[in-house]
Amino acid sequence: MKIDVLLGLQWGDEGKGKIVDVLTPRYDIIARFQGGPNAGHTLEIGGDRHVLHTIPSGIFHADKINVIGNGVIADPFILHNEILALKAKGVQPKINLRISKRAHLILPTHRLLDAAYESAMGKGKIGSTLKGIGPCYTDKTARFGIRFGDILSSDFNKKYNALKDRHLRILENYDFDISKQEIDKMPVAEYEKKWFEAVESLKEYELIDSELFINHALAEGKRILAEGAQGSLLDVDFGSYPYVTSSNTITAGVCSGLGVPPTAIGKVYGVFKAYCTRVGSGPFPTELNDETGELLRQNGNEFGSTTGRPRRCGWLDLPALSYAVMLNGVTDLVMMKADVMNDFEKVKVCTAYKIDGMENPELTFETLSGDVKPVYRSFEGWQTSLKGLTNFGVLPAKLSEYIRFIERSVNLPIDILSAGPGREQTIMR
Ligand code: GDP
Ligand code: IMO
Ligand code: MG
Repeated sequence: MKIDVLLGLQWGDEGKGKIVDVLTPRYDIIARFQGGPNAGHTLEIGGDRHVLHTIPSGIFHADKINVIGNGVIADPFILHNEILALKAKGVQPKINLRISKRAHLILPTHRLLDAAYESAMGKGKIGSTLKGIGPCYTDKTARFGIRFGDILSSDFNKKYNALKDRHLRILENYDFDISKQEIDKMPVAEYEKKWFEAVESLKEYELIDSELFINHALAEGKRILAEGAQGSLLDVDFGSYPYVTSSNTITAGVCSGLGVPPTAIGKVYGVFKAYCTRVGSGPFPTELNDETGELLRQNGNEFGSTTGRPRRCGWLDLPALSYAVMLNGVTDLVMMKADVMNDFEKVKVCTAYKIDGMENPELTFETLSGDVKPVYRSFEGWQTSLKGLTNFGVLPAKLSEYIRFIERSVNLPIDILSAGPGREQTIMR
């Protein structure tokens, strides 16, 4: 069997969680391959809204195994709280959650480092979610990190203290008074205590060699879906660097983040919104700092699932979408949230960037980091509700026209259309 992939084609928050939940019945295993609690994946089931950060979005299906892969980094405190929130809704993660022994731990001091770095950057800050992502992945590549497998070892505390001391020495170079800091609204010492309690409780979960588990499952004919976090334009190599996250969010990340060979990759579902959003700093060519942008934010409830920050909103960016489709080898496109623009008289898409007086239809180093002006094509809005629509054949003609233009531009059909946050508001081709 091959492993299918589902990931975001924009700056995150495309609606990955919803689509993973919708597709889960087709799979046996759902596995996260990168990122950490910077992610916020929203599932709406029977009107109840649930946000997941570290746990894969298949967790509400009791008979499906959910794997936190080796490429993920996890904060035990946040993970433990996610488990408690699921238990309160009758979900039993003890039964269907597995954690890779190779996944790295986010320490409380990783979060302090994140905060110190960001505050030192002032206006140039990344706009990080402050979950310790950058510092933890830095320690992983610098070979100082601590992994889930280590929590079972007798020298775990020694390893923890050595890494913590290293962090405290770095923090001495910053104008950063630790005694005045809080993590998740708690004094640091209290947070650290809760973090250790969480580590203790996670020892009861199945810690596995996830690369063996996944490859054996493939050999046995099991169907696996790899769930991405963040989005392709936040990828550390191909995103709008340095305003990116610290992992490879694209399909290539599945190979290193789960330990599967490139030849094992099957379908790649690329998820995008019918417009664009971005949280945090960094270039965003089609951003709308006007009433239309505000309307997208209000209609689309565009406020961060993890931090509550208002998301920046703008028109769909086709050069960026084509770039993401290329990088990921997308086979199946999924368009989300067209319903947010139901009332719009006009809908625009960016077809090229104007830079130094020249038009460029491709995303390049210069167009992604420079001062570009989007070139727009305008469409008439469909101005009708999408409620109750169940197939592509009955879509409003103007929406079909919008969809066809996108399909022609990126050279791929749109296979799934989402017209609301609920599971049932999903139209399959
Ligand atoms: P993710 O990080 O990619 O999983 O996306 P988020 O959960 O951060 O953000 C997507 C938001 O849009 C969530 O609040 C979803 O409930 C909501 N959503 C998902 N699909 C649709 C849709 O088709 N229409 C509308 N109006 N909302 C949607
Ligand atoms: P999901 O999986 C949207 C953004 C942050 C910031 C940058 C770096 O829900 O789509 P980090 O915390 O990684 O140091 O932040 O990346 N970011 C996200 N934006 N959705 C996400 O995840 C994000 N995860 C990180 O806002 O700009
Ligand atoms: Mg999100």
